[in-house]
Amino acid sequence: QKGNYDHYMQKEIHEQPESLTTTMRGRLIHGGSKVKGVLLGGLKDHLRTIRRSRRILFIGCGTSYHAGLATRALVEELSGVPVTMELASDLLDRRGPVYREDTAIFVSQSGETADTLEALEYAKSCGALCVGVTNTVGSAIARGTHCGVHINAGCEIGVASTKAYTSQIAAMTMMALALGEDTISSCSRREAIIDDLINLPDKVREVLKLDNDMKELAKELMEEQSLLVFGRGYNYATALEGALKVKEVALMHSEGILAGEMKHGPLALVDENLPIIVVATRDATCSKQQSVIQQLQARKGRLIVMCTKGDANLMCPNGSYRFIEVPQLQDCLQPIINIVPFQLLAYHLTVLRGFNVDQPRNLAKSVTIS
Ligand code: F6R
Repeated sequence: QKGNYDHYMQKEIHEQPESLTTTMRGRLIHGGSKVKGVLLGGLKDHLRTIRRSRRILFIGCGTSYHAGLATRALVEELSGVPVTMELASDLLDRRGPVYREDTAIFVSQSGETADTLEALEYAKSCGALCVGVTNTVGSAIARGTHCGVHINAGCEIGVASTKAYTSQIAAMTMMALALGEDTISSCSRREAIIDDLINLPDKVREVLKLDNDMKELAKELMEEQSLLVFGRGYNYATALEGALKVKEVALMHSEGILAGEMKHGPLALVDENLPIIVVATRDATCSKQQSVIQQLQARKGRLIVMCTKGDANLMCPNGSYRFIEVPQLQDCLQPIINIVPFQLLAYHLTVLRGFNVDQPRNLAKSVTIS
């Protein structure tokens, strides 16, 4: 039921503080006054095997692929195992090599996506350990994998995935923490992430207050043909996912671009008319994003900068741009915060442009035919 909301997508965006709480419920282990670790029942007997694998593959489609991309760096950091990203259809087209020593992690909200399911059969036939990250208990992917994690985000009705995306990142962050649990050197890093997992629902509540600002921005952008989104590091996924939301519901061309690739082509598009959102929240890549902003400024780019609360002047000392200021969390959790304004923007753009929010033309919630 939509309750007080006009659309399911709007409801699902606004219920993320609760869906994230449910994703974490019962999974953070308390030791004395502090939370000291995570417990993922469906994975605990397989952690040793995953830690010893030669490679981890994240396999999914669309938004679920982006959720894998958002957690890739943390899984590599805490497990020490290299992670490769695979779009399910491309892995199948190539029949890319998969080995017995690999762990293949299948990310799917519905658990029924045809390409992801076919990639699961393929990886199983190659002898890999197959792990599912799904939102649907009893789905084909949940049943077909050797072990897995339910994200427990609750039923998602809007075709555009919103709360499932943030819960997928939270669940995979917990998976990374569990994989790193036997490593003493990363103990303080893990503790800091766990502290911020606990803060996460409140921070999402805070960023949801940008709803009106995003509506204003949508009014400004509603007649545009195109919108670029630049991100890097943990927020490369934010750029891809933000652009996907805008294109799939608002039916506006939008492209997520790895900022490190800017000079290798996309820079040619920059002029005073094309709107560009640059994600430049505080993390190890922030100074690089600052120089991207300067280069875009030098070409009179029409910038909208997403930055950490209080950093607006620092990011653009001599520009009067629009800013989207968001609360700060540990770098690996920041994509959960940063995607929310994009979800709100896509929602408002769609309503203003008069399109169907919950059922965009040509799309189905679950793609069961490849
Ligand atoms: C976009 C969206 C799709 C799905 C994709 C995979 O908002 O929802 O890109 O993420 O079709 O679906 P699942 O996660 O069910 O495998």
